Amino acid sequence: HRSLLGIGQLETHEILYLLDEAEQWVALNRRPTKHADALAGLTIINAFFENSTRTLLSFEIAGKRLGADVVNMHAAQSSVKKGETLIDTAVTLNAMRADAIVIRHGSSGAVQLIADKVACPVLNAGDGQHEHPTQALLDALALRHKLRERGRQEFNGLKVTICGDILHSRVARSNILCLQALGAVVRLCAPPALMPAGIEQMGVEPLSDFDTALDGAEVVMMLRLQNERMDGQFIPSPREYRHLFGLTLERLQRAAPDAIVMHPGPMNRGVEIDSNVADLPQSIITDQVEMGVAIRMACLDVLTRRARGVQGWGAGPEG
Ligand code: CP
Repeated sequence: HRSLLGIGQLETHEILYLLDEAEQWVALNRRPTKHADALAGLTIINAFFENSTRTLLSFEIAGKRLGADVVNMHAAQSSVKKGETLIDTAVTLNAMRADAIVIRHGSSGAVQLIADKVACPVLNAGDGQHEHPTQALLDALALRHKLRERGRQEFNGLKVTICGDILHSRVARSNILCLQALGAVVRLCAPPALMPAGIEQMGVEPLSDFDTALDGAEVVMMLRLQNERMDGQFIPSPREYRHLFGLTLERLQRAAPDAIVMHPGPMNRGVEIDSNVADLPQSIITDQVEMGVAIRMACLDVLTRRARGVQGWGAGPEG
């Protein structure tokens, strides 16, 4: 593949390849001196049309740790605010001869649109309600580390419950695809208004009762309410939401013993997850952030190989 637009485009062996490639960067990032020069001389543009803390910073750190020149374009300070179209913005970025462009955009499909207009690899850092592929990859890597620590090598049959605003969540969509590809069994839980119609066609079990959804879950992934995408349609009070769908210590007892707790961030503590749950030893929320840098290093490395004349992913005639 030339670009990384979604987990949906990847074969299982390609997902595993990216996870395996990331391991060397996990090791590097744990050293006092965290530098490699694999991407020296390349220019990476991070074009973010939506807010971000983790994704933007980790892509920036990833590029810099690999020796690339990294520049960030924040849409709020760009000529997008003066009415420039997405396509003209893409053509402008292309003219600057970037070697990779990382894009976050509020509209599903916007990243594909840009990928079609530029000559370099494009990495989707989250597009609308569609996909957030590097999030799913970093989640899988963090989970794999925790499972291996416990002596479990495989995801096969792993019971994962994803709870929250599934309707607006690109994280849920990418994670469903990634976890299923790796062999996990995925259950979803959301208020009926926030569960996409027909989602069971993805091979998941949709539930609206959180206690039922938690029953025996080995992994519980919590998602925040994306109020910014709701147009005022469904915004329960934080208290009401916590009462029905918040992960409390008491609720967590319904899951499997020592169930792994995950959250992609940003968290709303005391709403979808209580602080005393987020900070449990079985929570891997900060590991997810750590793995985010390594996964993004792997994705940048792998996707720029063709441009660097390095063999491997993307080196073949079809990309
Ligand atoms: N998980 C995630 O995408 O976080 P940011 O919005 O802070 O990048």
